[in-house]
Amino acid sequence: MPELFDNHNRRIDYLRVSITDKCNLRCIYCMPEEGLADLKKHEDIFTYEEIEIFVYHAIKQGISRVRLTGGEPLIRRDVVDFIKNLSSMSELHDMSLTTNGVLLADFAEDLYEAGLKRINISIDSLNHEKFKHITRVGNLSIVMKGLQKAFEVGFNPVKINAVVLKEINDSPSDFKDFAKLTFDYPVHVRFIEYMPFSKQMGLDMCLPCSEMIERLKKFGELEDVDSPRGSGPARYMKFRGALGTIGFISPMSNHFCPECNRLRLTVDGKLKTCLFSNDEIDVIGPMRNNHPEKAVEEVLREALKVKPKDHSTARKDHFVRTMSQIGG
Ligand code: GTP
Ligand code: 5AD
Ligand code: SF4
Repeated sequence: MPELFDNHNRRIDYLRVSITDKCNLRCIYCMPEEGLADLKKHEDIFTYEEIEIFVYHAIKQGISRVRLTGGEPLIRRDVVDFIKNLSSMSELHDMSLTTNGVLLADFAEDLYEAGLKRINISIDSLNHEKFKHITRVGNLSIVMKGLQKAFEVGFNPVKINAVVLKEINDSPSDFKDFAKLTFDYPVHVRFIEYMPFSKQMGLDMCLPCSEMIERLKKFGELEDVDSPRGSGPARYMKFRGALGTIGFISPMSNHFCPECNRLRLTVDGKLKTCLFSNDEIDVIGPMRNNHPEKAVEEVLREALKVKPKDHSTARKDHFVRTMSQIGG
């Protein structure tokens, strides 16, 4: 198998692909109530076929894991057929999708049959009022039906992402609800430090993972455990006797840049080498104008050359794209 290494000798094998910048929720930390004004135009969006060609050639170069993100990926038309095509690429060792769960009850079965075997669901609170407050328009019952369905059809592992916001979902009962869920289901609940990406909220809303662990300790004895199948930066613990685990993603307090293994492909066909950098490499242009295989080879080579060593060498004064436009 070929391998890709960047200029800092990190092995890069994970590609996050955003397939839409649209979303059916309006999370308070992510976007304004009216949604984002600058959505990409149809002709500027990478078609499924173009993404498939990109992934196909990227796999030949050394990418072996792909995550589909958004916005909300399940709202893009024909996503199931697209996933079927990706999963037929035999050298793709791991494919997953991050969803807000709103459409999951409807899609779970078809997604699983199309070849998707694991899934991450964003649920920031298990309290109905708080969930509504955070997502502005979401309904927790519908998302929980999606979670249930994910277990029924056999997704494994099933992970939950909860972005913790100070004084919004960081109370003892918030942590207790998620802790309890790991006793009842073999679910992996990952708490995420809020990253101040949009104008919506500042760094003062970010609760460090060390503090989350202190608060969780009240609900049982936590021990370190190995990660469930995955490619991301979460570190995992487990309550003694629980079926599931608790994970922590600490981009703000504990940078995981030395282990960074990923590139990101945006909905309009640009490669981002770091979440915190505004630098982008155009992929859509070269792929539409040149021989695709050669174009993919060249943009990957360029990406590996310029991928920053860590956050500090990436620009972070203002962000051209918000989280929903990058896909996390
Ligand atoms: P697994 O393969 O299941 O481990 O997935 P993942 O954790 O890589 O993916 P997911 O889409 O569920 O991301 C969870 C959270 O981690 C999101 O809030 C992402 O923004 C954050 N995250 C993922 N990759 C990075 C990264 O490279 N840098 C930073 N700062 N945050 C990241
Ligand atoms: N900080 C941390 N995580 C975020 N997400 C979205 N915006 C932010 C942010 N500003 C999470 C979503 C989803 C994942 C893709 O990224 O909740 O779980
Ligand atoms: Fe949509 Fe995710 Fe942003 Fe919430 S955080 S509005 S689910 S893209």
